Amino acid sequence: LTNNKAQENLLDEIKELQLSLPNETWFVWPMYLYQGLWCLSYILEGIISFKTHFQAHDTDIILASLPKTGTTWLKSLIFAIVNRTKFSDDFTQHPLRTKNPHALIEHLEINVYKEVNGNKPDLSEIPSPRLFATHVSYLSLPDSIKNSKCRIVYVCRNPFDTFVSIWHFFLEFEPCKGIKPDLVMMEKYVDKFCSGVSPWGPYEDHVLGYWKESKKNQQKVIFLEYEGLKKEPEAHLKRLAEFLGYPFSEVEEKNNVINKIVELCSLKSLKEMEVNKIGRLSTKFENKILLRKGEVGDWNKYLTPTLAKRIEEMQEKLKKAGFSS
Ligand code: A3P
Repeated sequence: LTNNKAQENLLDEIKELQLSLPNETWFVWPMYLYQGLWCLSYILEGIISFKTHFQAHDTDIILASLPKTGTTWLKSLIFAIVNRTKFSDDFTQHPLRTKNPHALIEHLEINVYKEVNGNKPDLSEIPSPRLFATHVSYLSLPDSIKNSKCRIVYVCRNPFDTFVSIWHFFLEFEPCKGIKPDLVMMEKYVDKFCSGVSPWGPYEDHVLGYWKESKKNQQKVIFLEYEGLKKEPEAHLKRLAEFLGYPFSEVEEKNNVINKIVELCSLKSLKEMEVNKIGRLSTKFENKILLRKGEVGDWNKYLTPTLAKRIEEMQEKLKKAGFSS
């Protein structure tokens, strides 16, 4: 098959598949339930392609997360930890000063396997360790990730702040700009979120999947929490660097390298970079909407007690299923 023909076939298959999949609406997009994962229509092709073609290497590092749980932050931290010796001590020339973290670690199903025109992207030239990210659930990962020795960093965030962050983010998307949100709409979306219908959801399955795997195999998956990282960034960075195989040396600790990385990757610092003030990674949004408040408990300002109760019930179910933070 020529590449174009293969691509046409794939697109036809996806169109046919879409007709048979359960679907819902997410703001302005259709969303499909594909093998237990809610996929925005424009990502479905990337997800299928990623699942079919990706071959993990033992040295790969993969960041996994749900949207709005700290992905941008972890991308900057992982990149900074792994590459720290390549840049001067004060990080003045650091790539994070001119590039958004999402340009330094790309998402497999959103960027790497998107619009490949039937070609599998050639990832063989990327020096190891290759750094990638994904929002797909543990269950939906390609087998090669599960079966190789590659490492997975998972970040989780409390469902209240995650929902509120999702809410703000999607309303800032270009195609959603005309939407006038009100409480009725927010209730509808809290209901969707709590019944598992949100991009790359269900939230509960996602968290539980990686949680269980991190308990089973601590060399494979490190489970981090946004709230813990905010509270004790340095302790978390040390743990993360060890897990990744890039532990901080005594000399580095003495030279304050951990703290310098924490500072470089802080929300305040990233917000100051020109690329994050006026840049765009996508036609759909400006980089600045990736960096909002970064507060724990911001949901208090937005969720009514009834809506908070609804999310609390979902969180209880999560705890009953064995999740404890
Ligand atoms: P808020 O909307 O609550 O402010 P993601 O990167 O997974 O899309 O998550 C986005 C959330 O993480 C947003 O939360 C954003 O402000 C916050 N965030 C982004 N970069 C951060 C950083 N460097 N430190 C702390 N929080 C950050």
